[in-house]
Amino acid sequence: MDHEEAFRLLADAGQSHVLAFWDRLDEAARARLLDQIASIDFAAVAELRGVLAHALAARGAPAADAAAGAMEPAPVLELEGRARADAIARGEEELRAGRVGVLVVAGGQGSRLGFDGPKGCCPVGPVSGEPLFRFHARKVLALGRRYGRPVPLYVMTSATNDAATRAFFEERGFFGLAREDVFFFPQAMWPALSPEGRVLLDRPDHVFLSPDGHGGVLAALARSGALADMESRGLASVCYLQVDNPMVDVGDPAFVGLHVAEGADWTLKVCRRTGPDEKMGMPVLRGGRTAIVEYTEFSEEQRRATLPDGSLRFAYGSPAIHVFSVPFLRREAEAGLPVHLAHKKVPYVDAAGAVVQPGAPNAYKFERFVFDALADARRVRCLAFDREEEYAPVKNREGEKSPAACRADLSRKWARWLRAAGAEIPLDERGYPPCPVEIDPAFARTSGELAGRLPAGLDLAGGILLS
Ligand code: UTP
Repeated sequence: MDHEEAFRLLADAGQSHVLAFWDRLDEAARARLLDQIASIDFAAVAELRGVLAHALAARGAPAADAAAGAMEPAPVLELEGRARADAIARGEEELRAGRVGVLVVAGGQGSRLGFDGPKGCCPVGPVSGEPLFRFHARKVLALGRRYGRPVPLYVMTSATNDAATRAFFEERGFFGLAREDVFFFPQAMWPALSPEGRVLLDRPDHVFLSPDGHGGVLAALARSGALADMESRGLASVCYLQVDNPMVDVGDPAFVGLHVAEGADWTLKVCRRTGPDEKMGMPVLRGGRTAIVEYTEFSEEQRRATLPDGSLRFAYGSPAIHVFSVPFLRREAEAGLPVHLAHKKVPYVDAAGAVVQPGAPNAYKFERFVFDALADARRVRCLAFDREEEYAPVKNREGEKSPAACRADLSRKWARWLRAAGAEIPLDERGYPPCPVEIDPAFARTSGELAGRLPAGLDLAGGILLS
């Protein structure tokens, strides 16, 4: 693209200000800016402008739909006894046949955590300091070893962290996985818009862009060829997880087995909320269909509503642990998801070209949410799981859901496993061990696998690391 083409394109899109600093840019900066302009989908930007105009026009108007009032809790299955054994057997069959893949979404910005680099590189190993990515990758490796067929791993990145993520896997030897079984693919990036619908420059030669939300995964899978790769490998199910939760039982045979046996498009793991104020999306039935509704969309009354036994009526939350059927992913690749907007602080350049970090929200960012695709899923199941076994996300720099909290919860879980396998480890009243405990997923993927593999005489002094 040359300057003239860019000029025309931007004029048509009502975004001519993108070239405001052209005369001051050197050749390299001009080339960078032209490349970026060529990469932006201005037809999509026009749609975002429409979404924004509509939202701003509706601001202050009473909520249009009474949907929030018309929901009830989604039915939740608890797998026990015979049903659990059957589901496990079915899931193991799928794994042995090589029909299961794993999808990690890792394209987010991790702004709350503020880690320097991809969030997946954030250290969480209680003893080893190993990063989030390693725990996911080693579980995938362990699954492949256990069931005799490699499990392909698909990692969604974004333009911001794609190169760093690939380099990290290279540097770490793909954590033992075969390189050809790991597929990286970037999600799309969208500009933010000012209230007037103008894209923002965050440098004189650069338009501010941010990832299009985890819902961008559906289009990105198709665009990148990852979905075609899943199909060519004969995958039937894909286990979806977020990069920031190192506890997920990746490829859990009971979960996969239930999904396949039920002929579901989508199966979700859901866990009990810690209380009415936990900020988690909740599984509901709305108009007869399963949906995940954001915590913020519930009224105070709905959040606190209880059953006669005193338990919460909307008792479960979704930590985004899913199984998708591959044909469903193919169908959804073409379906447009709704766009959500958030008023945020977005850096911009002033008239002199100096970068300004605003003190208050000044622009709108746009995102798609993967759970909106539930509206198209023909069969959906929700499976209850024990959050202490599978949910310890890294969201914040400090306090709740921080790396330190995650490390402590991982130690607690693995100490429980050690105790179940016969090791003598004292636990405090909340179940935490006196020292950090870590088990490489490739050493034992489940508590059951640990039995019979315990070394004699565990030394609590320096922390326990089994790898
Ligand atoms: P979060 O919503 O927690 O966002 O993402 P985040 O980017 O990690 O952190 P904040 O909100 O900026 O602090 C949940 C999961 O979805 C992925 C994230 O990488 C994380 O695994 N995600 C989120 C994407 O892959 N792409 C996105 O555009 C947004």
